[in-house]
Amino acid sequence: MCGIVGYIGWREAAPVLVGGLKSLEYRGYDSFGVATGTDSIMVAKRKGRISEQADCVSGCHGTRGIGHTRWATHGLPDDRNAHPHTDCTGQFAIVHNGIIENYAELRRGLEGRCHRFTSDTDSEVIAHLIEEAWEGDFAAAVRAVLPLLEGSYAILAVCAGSDEVIAARERSPLVIGLGDDEFFACSDSTPIVEYTRNIMVLEDGDLVVMRRGAVAVENGGETVVRETTYIDYDIEASRKGGFEHFMLKEIFEQPDVFQQSFRLACTHQGISMLLSRARGVSVIACGTSYNAALLFRYFAEKECGVPVRVDLASEYRYLSTPDDEIVIAVSQSGETADTLSALKKAVASSCPTIAITNVQGSSITRAADHTIYTGAGPEISVAATKSYMGQFAAFVGLLAGMNCSDMSAVERSVRQVIEESLLTDVSEAVSLCAKASTIFYVGRGIFYPVALEGALKMKEISYIHAEGYAAGEIKHGPFALLSEETPAVAVCMPGDGYQSMLGNLREMKARGTPLIGIGYGDDIDLQDVADVCIPVPKGDAYAQVAAVTVIMQRIAYYTALALGQDIDKPRNLAKSVTVE
Ligand code: G6P
Repeated sequence: MCGIVGYIGWREAAPVLVGGLKSLEYRGYDSFGVATGTDSIMVAKRKGRISEQADCVSGCHGTRGIGHTRWATHGLPDDRNAHPHTDCTGQFAIVHNGIIENYAELRRGLEGRCHRFTSDTDSEVIAHLIEEAWEGDFAAAVRAVLPLLEGSYAILAVCAGSDEVIAARERSPLVIGLGDDEFFACSDSTPIVEYTRNIMVLEDGDLVVMRRGAVAVENGGETVVRETTYIDYDIEASRKGGFEHFMLKEIFEQPDVFQQSFRLACTHQGISMLLSRARGVSVIACGTSYNAALLFRYFAEKECGVPVRVDLASEYRYLSTPDDEIVIAVSQSGETADTLSALKKAVASSCPTIAITNVQGSSITRAADHTIYTGAGPEISVAATKSYMGQFAAFVGLLAGMNCSDMSAVERSVRQVIEESLLTDVSEAVSLCAKASTIFYVGRGIFYPVALEGALKMKEISYIHAEGYAAGEIKHGPFALLSEETPAVAVCMPGDGYQSMLGNLREMKARGTPLIGIGYGDDIDLQDVADVCIPVPKGDAYAQVAAVTVIMQRIAYYTALALGQDIDKPRNLAKSVTVE
């Protein structure tokens, strides 16, 4: 996690760094800092968010510099632990994203050699190691330090008296923006697109030396050439456009996102054919992407007869997995460390691999054999909404190809119910939820993953404890917690398991649980048992999933709003989790 940004060129660096860090805040936002200058290095850093105190960098001048917005891994989120970190002399400053796994041992050695540390971070060792390796050549010093580091890193470094910014990457994302007589180095292209669309994506082991007018990449001591990619990025889509929060704006973009992502996936006929003939498909993902993957399992097994297993990417490495499966890695960012490691394990086992991601050129696209992009556009809110819809749509598009069926009617009906669900009144449900300290989300079949995602949204942004459960499981433990204080959001749609679901609701009701029933508006049985009913527009199973998802997203959003929470940047979370 953490976002890093570096600049060298003809502009004042500090405003470029501040702007860049603001757009990278979704990666972490507990503290920030920048270092600029040539003859001497000026550092400004502070606990909190850069968007609220950017003026603290007003003393940093010069046309090159580095910056960092932090998601704490080692040491409290405070001023001391904020990056950049410097060596004992203040000659070198570094920012780091990743984890230096052997930092404790390195630090003991450095302290034994009289280095003084000023933070609790793993990252600070890098600055002191560069200080030790320095013999007058900045690049040579950084080059000498990298082999000493175990773990993952994207590092940017500056040195007083040198006209270079140095970047290095190992298992943490880092891209270089190639501007007009200026270069940018960032965790991703978001901060760069304002200045240039020409991006060079670095590989593990790359070391980059940037000077005014020249950039040189080396790997293992050899000069290498990395391909330059033109990035298509809609800057307007990354602005709030009149909505109070990015999350709400992104929820409202979902009719288009579904359509766009569905159509993109439909162009991958070859991948659909591959999947339809597979002996088995394994899907790996984290968080919201995992919940989207679970949906694929229900639909693919039922409609295409293809066995699908879905694993949490963080657990995949501990499992023994067949090597004749097709492995699909799903990740909005394409950078989630656990998903990337799991994908690499699949590649190492010679499984055919497919990446489903929202970010062009992201790490999983380079690791997988094939990539399907979702057409969600930049998602800024930490809590994922439209990217989930995009992933669901991508799966629906793949299913259309697997079934060889024309699903244009599905595309239309899903779009329509999403539009209707954006207007459904959820206020009574919100009033119930905002008073609760625990909420259960229950569903059966395809609505079980939807319940998981509904609960995840609620806990992420409202900080109310919310648990998603398969309705049949709720008797096996959670019943002990049911009371008038624990509302349940229950999906009860006609079709498979409807009667069992109604039975589950009655059982919960008998324990005093206030029930928010999500189902058809003309369902009298549901109205009988539920305290609040939220009507779902009628449609096929895909449309129902999309509609209930949108309704749950809106319940979570308005509950968090009622509680005054920081919706787009919930505490302790980050959007791109690049540490395992
Ligand atoms: C973080 C984000 C979640 C996201 C998960 C997986 O936890 O806060 O919103 O679902 O990572 O991210 P990915 O980019 O791999 O989909």
